[in-house]
Amino acid sequence: MEKQIEQIKESALAAIHESKNLVELDSIRVKFLGKKSELASISKNMGKLSAEDRPRLGKINHDARVEIESALDKKKIELQSLELDQKLKTESIDVTLPGRRNIRGHLHPITLTLDRIKKIFLNMGYSIEEGPEIETDYFNFEALNLPKDHPARDMQDSFYITEEILMRTQTSPVQARTMQAHSNNEPIKMIAPGRVYRRDDYDASHSPMFTQVEGLVIDRGIRFSDLKGTLETFLKQTFGSKAKIRLRPSFFPFTEPSTEVDVSCVMCHGNGCSVCKGSGWLEILGAGMVHPHVLEMSGYDPKIVSGFAFGLGVERIAMLTYGIDDLRLFYDNDVRFLKQF
Ligand code: PHE
Repeated sequence: MEKQIEQIKESALAAIHESKNLVELDSIRVKFLGKKSELASISKNMGKLSAEDRPRLGKINHDARVEIESALDKKKIELQSLELDQKLKTESIDVTLPGRRNIRGHLHPITLTLDRIKKIFLNMGYSIEEGPEIETDYFNFEALNLPKDHPARDMQDSFYITEEILMRTQTSPVQARTMQAHSNNEPIKMIAPGRVYRRDDYDASHSPMFTQVEGLVIDRGIRFSDLKGTLETFLKQTFGSKAKIRLRPSFFPFTEPSTEVDVSCVMCHGNGCSVCKGSGWLEILGAGMVHPHVLEMSGYDPKIVSGFAFGLGVERIAMLTYGIDDLRLFYDNDVRFLKQF
């Protein structure tokens, strides 16, 4: 039996040595070490041997198996690298092919518009202020000359958290907050961008949440012409140097006089189209001279200083810039839309 094992081992090692590829090597492994191999049947018959022969021949059988296994492993590595070499020789890879790109995100069109607005005002020397989106009734209304029973409150129905705390309906409370953070009639030149909330329907031109930019300038001798010049500069930089502006009298409780500011239609340049509903003008923002009582309530002396304020809707400007006719596209998060910016 010892001799038989020795012979099997020799012929296995010879076969391994001769084998030319991995498939052949695998069939050699099955033939010599598999369940139906000679070594396997010898193992099975070990039980029939005498007690003295069994351990000795068992060990010889086992050693032969180990030796064949390690020869198989060695040959396998050899053949693998050989086959790889061959593959590299015969196959060609086009290293100039571009790789697969990852999809990169980018800024939302509202953020892009907001950034452009901020840049224009930063260049004019404005600072950027922030205020909370959850605001007190006092800052959102009262400090802006809208006492509790004021009928103008109806224009801005809000989401109330308690009777005294609400989601801000406008960025104007940042006017009062900024004034109260200053003293001694110090000059102010700031914009306040941010989100505002109103109980509005959700349709192509309304949303219960939207973005505003507030502006406030206070100093000695600030006049209405300063307001007009500032807004004209801003609108020309936003819509192009041909843009014209038009002021219409309006009412806001915190400015006096107040004005609604229109820009010549960016689509038809004033000829009349569906976007401007044939008028040639687009309503773009509200503004006015800060009401003396508003100055007074926040610690400024209207006999010494004066100021102007304005508030604009960022979505409206983004829609006109990009030619978008439905406000909801900004909030739907549809990548087919967002991809285009
Ligand atoms: N806060 C006003 C609004 O949301 C806009 C405005 C701001 C008007 C500042 C005048 C001055 O309608």
